[in-house]
Amino acid sequence: MKGRRILGWTLVLVVLAVNLGACAAMAPEPAPSLYKRLGGRDGIALVVDDFVANLVADARVNARFKGMQVPAVFKLKSNLSDQICDAAGGPCSYLGRDMKTTHKGMRVTDAEWSATVENLSKALDKHKVGAKEKSELLGLLGPMKGDIVGQ
Ligand code: HEM
Repeated sequence: MKGRRILGWTLVLVVLAVNLGACAAMAPEPAPSLYKRLGGRDGIALVVDDFVANLVADARVNARFKGMQVPAVFKLKSNLSDQICDAAGGPCSYLGRDMKTTHKGMRVTDAEWSATVENLSKALDKHKVGAKEKSELLGLLGPMKGDIVGQ
């Protein structure tokens, strides 16, 4: 009689253990960060390369970047990459100047802002960044507008 009871309890424990294991396996994985979904540092660097190439080719904004020497362009790309990586939850820290200081005295217009966002959007499309990721990234950069336009 005692032996049967022990066997019964052992069975109950085995069933519980198996079910708990299955529950742990079914727990949803945490969603990958936007940084990961953008392809990490490499994916971001490719997008930034094309973003800057688009800016330089765009008559609406390229006067702003005219005469920039190679090291300055390199620094701009590196800062933009760090800024995006940082904002997207990646393992980077943006160490450039804040947006207000950077764009101070430039009197960037609303039209230039829109052209710049368009150029970034084109670069994201070229690298097949999904609509969700695109809107998440633009949503992170959008609030910077007040510090960039009209300074
Ligand atoms: C999404 C909007 C924008 C972002 C995220 C952004 C970000 C940045 C960053 C990170 C830098 C480098 C900062 C540093 O050197 O410490 C920079 C520099 C610069 N930005 Fe912007 N920017 C934006 C919009 C614009 C617009 C609309 C213009 C004008 C058309 C503009 C013109 C410039 C110029 C000319 C520089 C170089 C400044 C220098 O080296 O002295 N930016 N921007």
